[in-house]
Amino acid sequence: MNPLNHVAIIMDGNGRWGLKYKNSRNEGHRAGLDTVEKIIKETIKQKINYLTLYAFSTENWNRPKKEINYLFSLLENFLTNKIEDLHKQNIKLNIIGVKNFSKKLNKLLNFSEKKTLKNTTLQINLALNYGSKLEIINAIKKMNKNNEKINEINLSKYLQTNNTPDPEILIRTGNTKRLSNFLLWQLAYTEIFFEKKLWPDFDKKDYVKVIGKFRKIKRNFGNI
Ligand code: FPP
Repeated sequence: MNPLNHVAIIMDGNGRWGLKYKNSRNEGHRAGLDTVEKIIKETIKQKINYLTLYAFSTENWNRPKKEINYLFSLLENFLTNKIEDLHKQNIKLNIIGVKNFSKKLNKLLNFSEKKTLKNTTLQINLALNYGSKLEIINAIKKMNKNNEKINEINLSKYLQTNNTPDPEILIRTGNTKRLSNFLLWQLAYTEIFFEKKLWPDFDKKDYVKVIGKFRKIKRNFGNI
């Protein structure tokens, strides 16, 4: 049975789900947040220590302002109402990406990270305004500045995921097979599961099924 420490997820399909069932993309995001909560719960139950969620990419700024504002208000409300609860569950929140949001949201994100810094049951890396290429470029720039030797170990140390082992599983929902500039370095040996279901429809059972399939895969890491 393969050990499992870290699951990464591209939560795709909110917009399509919202349009299909509620005639509103934003309703899809709202429903997507319910799935986030269910998956966090199951991740803890499965004793997985790291969960990385792609919530907003550097490319998502191209969306209509109304949708962007809705997504960030959803996040703001979620953190305001739930951070205490996450903290009680011993969950650590770690933001990856560039934190250049409104003053209010930046403050809330910093507060949430600081409050949960020492928690140990589950680390959630929330990718916000995240792009993997930018993350790698920024890491190399910093390495150069510090006169670091350019090698794999050092580069991994300078990425924003430096305190996280590489994911063993990547799940992408929404019936689309691409990586969308997500964790390009970290996914080098990750098992990838493309799921047909839209994110709001993805449930605990689907998640447990993916984990079960992963456990049985023969992982070679380039060996035979
Ligand atoms: C991709 O679906 C999803 C997003 C860009 C946002 C993800 C956000 C959530 C799951 C809810 C909010 C989460 C937090 C933590 C507040 P899409 O909109 O690209 O779907 P589409 O492919 O159907 O258009």
